Amino acid sequence: MDTSKPKKTRIVVIGIGAVGSTTAYTLLLKERMDELVLIDANQAKAVGDALDMNHGLPFVGRTRVWAGTYEDCREADIIIITAGAAQKPGESRVDLLKRNVSIYESIIGEVLKVNDHGILLIASNPVDIMSYFSLKKSNWPVNRVIGSGTLLDSARFRYLIGEKLNLDPRSVHAHIVGEHGDSELPLWSLANVAGTELVLADEDKEEIFTNTRDAAYQIIESKGATYYAIALALDRICTAILRNEGAVLNVSTMLDNYHGVSDVYLGVPCIVDRTGVREIMKVNISDSERELLHRSADKLKNLIQSISV
Ligand code: 2OP
Repeated sequence: MDTSKPKKTRIVVIGIGAVGSTTAYTLLLKERMDELVLIDANQAKAVGDALDMNHGLPFVGRTRVWAGTYEDCREADIIIITAGAAQKPGESRVDLLKRNVSIYESIIGEVLKVNDHGILLIASNPVDIMSYFSLKKSNWPVNRVIGSGTLLDSARFRYLIGEKLNLDPRSVHAHIVGEHGDSELPLWSLANVAGTELVLADEDKEEIFTNTRDAAYQIIESKGATYYAIALALDRICTAILRNEGAVLNVSTMLDNYHGVSDVYLGVPCIVDRTGVREIMKVNISDSERELLHRSADKLKNLIQSISV
C-alpha cells in the first residue's frame, strides 16, 4: 500500500492590493488549493488579510491560508504576481513601467532562489510587458510564464454580446486578442453562438467593442480600480492549470510567428493545462484582423524597447 501523502497544492499570491486580495478570496471561496500564501511588501496588510480569511474558514473549509515570505514559494504550484506601483501624478507610462520592471526584477529574483518548477501567472499592468519581462528574467520555459492577457477583455466582450442578444454570456464564443489595453482587437470573424454567426448591426458591434476596450477606464473612473472580474479570470486560469483541463483561454504568451508576429507577449487563444500554456491555437483571422494584431504587437515592442528589457 502506498502510504505517501498526496502533495498539497499551493498557490502564492504576491502583491496583496485590491487585485491580489480579491483573487486570494476568490480562490479561497472556490476551494481551489490546499494552501494559499499571501506575500506583500506591506507585511501587515498580508497578515491582516490572512487573519481575516482564516476567520472565514469555518464557512468554506479546508484551505490553509497564511502571510508568508518568499521562502514559501518553494512548494508553490502557481505564483500569481499582482504587485506593481501606482502611477504618480505627472508620471509617464514609460516611467511607471520602468518602476514596475524594477519591482519585478526583485520579486522574480527572490522566487527563482527557491522555485524552478512552478507556473508564474502575471497580472500586473501592463500585463503583456510584465509577462515578457518575467520570461526573460526567469529564463523558464515559455509555457510556464503566463499573462492574464485578454481573458478578462474576452469575458467583458462575451458579457456585452450576451446583454445585446439576451443570451447567457457562457453560450457566447468570442475572443479579444492582442494587448490587454488600448490596441486590443475583437475577432468578429470567429464570434458565434452554437456555431452560428452573430446577427449584429455594425453600430452595435462598434459599441460593444468600444465598451469592452474602455471598460477598465469606466470602472476606474467610478471606483478607482477593477478587481472582481480579474480575480475570477485569474481563478479560471488557476483552475485550468490545477485540474489539467486543456481549456481554451485567451491568455498572454510569447508568440513565435503567430500570423507573422514574433518575440512579444500578446493575448491569444491558448490551450491551458497542468503544463501551463500547452499550445497556442492558430485560429483563422481576417486580413484586417491580422493587420490590427501586427499594430498591437508593434506598439508593445516599441514600449519594450523604450525600457530596454
Ligand atoms: C482591467 O482591465 C485595469 O487591467 C485592469 O480591469
